[in-house]
Amino acid sequence: MTTKSQAVLDWIDERFPLTSTWKAHLSEYYAPKNFNFWYFFGSLALLVLVIQILTGIFLVMHYKPDASLNASGVPVAFASVEYIMREVPGGWLIRYLHSTGASAFFIVVYLHMFRGLLYGSYRKPRELIWIFGTLIFLVLMAEAFMGYLLPWGQMSFWGAQVIVNLFSAIPVIGPDLSLVIRGDYVVSDATLNRFFSFHVIAVPLVLIGLVVAHIVALHEVGSNNPDGVEIKKKKDANGIPLDGIPFHPYYTVKDIVGVVAFLFFFSAVVFFAPEAGGYFLEFNNFLPADPLTTPPHIAPVWYFTPFYSILRAVTYPLFGLDAKFWGVVAMGASVVIIAFLPWLDRSPVKSIRYKGPIFKLAVAVFVVCFFILGYLGVLPPTPGRTLVSQICSVLYFAFFLLMPWYSKLDKCKAEPERVTFK
Ligand code: HEM
Repeated sequence: MTTKSQAVLDWIDERFPLTSTWKAHLSEYYAPKNFNFWYFFGSLALLVLVIQILTGIFLVMHYKPDASLNASGVPVAFASVEYIMREVPGGWLIRYLHSTGASAFFIVVYLHMFRGLLYGSYRKPRELIWIFGTLIFLVLMAEAFMGYLLPWGQMSFWGAQVIVNLFSAIPVIGPDLSLVIRGDYVVSDATLNRFFSFHVIAVPLVLIGLVVAHIVALHEVGSNNPDGVEIKKKKDANGIPLDGIPFHPYYTVKDIVGVVAFLFFFSAVVFFAPEAGGYFLEFNNFLPADPLTTPPHIAPVWYFTPFYSILRAVTYPLFGLDAKFWGVVAMGASVVIIAFLPWLDRSPVKSIRYKGPIFKLAVAVFVVCFFILGYLGVLPPTPGRTLVSQICSVLYFAFFLLMPWYSKLDKCKAEPERVTFK
């Protein structure tokens, strides 16, 4: 560094912890040297968050949250999205980046969570990282749900109608609660305005705050790794973990590989298949919202469908409360239960590499059930499909609830002293 730029840096450092923050979180943050591709998804989630915020800013410049009809009899909100797609220079790109980004966010976050499950990254001392993560997941679902109403298409309207109605199943407060969420007796302009306000400012603020807390908690305890070995246990004379390497430049450079691979697939979807066969953008949503015409089949977007299937799997009333109420409880529980993993897993080792056959089998069954539930959630229900989703829902919960028992019972291999690295 030249003496001039060093002088500028010294001037800043006397007033702001720039160099010390850089060192603590990047150049002297020691990460395990055995990270594999699963460790790309955290930085990719950050990348998608940035893409969503930047494209969102430009969409808001032209989008109008207004359910009234324009001179051609089309809702203003729907027409403003069409205007972005057809008239705004580059508008189609910004919109497809944002709509594809929503699905990409969930793909990346699901893989990121799965990595945590594989390597026991939720175990002590990383419980808070995991809890912040589960909260991020919940908030992300709220963000996506509210964003989906904004184009004011048929699926936006009827999807919101179905989901908001679910809240009315909660005893005592339910009907008033759904009224507050909608701001009206039906999904209307009032709903569109409040969802817009939450989607563009309130929820993103919470999301960013949670992501900061998530990373601060991670840097407090240090990263886990594919062996589940605590690298802080073995340090050299200078207090540097023997199995650690500075995050910058080693992982900043390695993460670029993940970014390039991700952008390759992401651009392929954005430019060649932004609807992704109706999975990323549902075909019914190319029709303007019509409160008088219910689409024959209403399904949420793919990333909600595993949980939606669990909701629909509950078909029996219990204790005088109807099936819809218990469905909502089961759906809520299926997300909240993820937060309890740190206390459910009693295995002596963290990583799946050293866990026994029972845990491996349980994870495999869990993943298969999650996919089946996801697939059934997009289809209209039939008695046969309902039965399959009931079986998968039971197995989904069994994976978590029986974990304290089978994770203890399992025959694990001994964890190595140091990380393994080929
Ligand atoms: C907006 C969403 C999210 C962002 C931006 C994000 C970001 C990150 C980053 C940058 C890392 C460090 C790099 C890595 O280990 O991959 C990380 C680690 C971690 N995240 Fe997330 N995350 C998000 C959501 C979640 C969710 C939903 C969960 C779980 C419910 C979760 C659980 C974890 C855990 C356990 C670690 C530590 C992993 C380890 O040390 O092995 N994260 N996250």
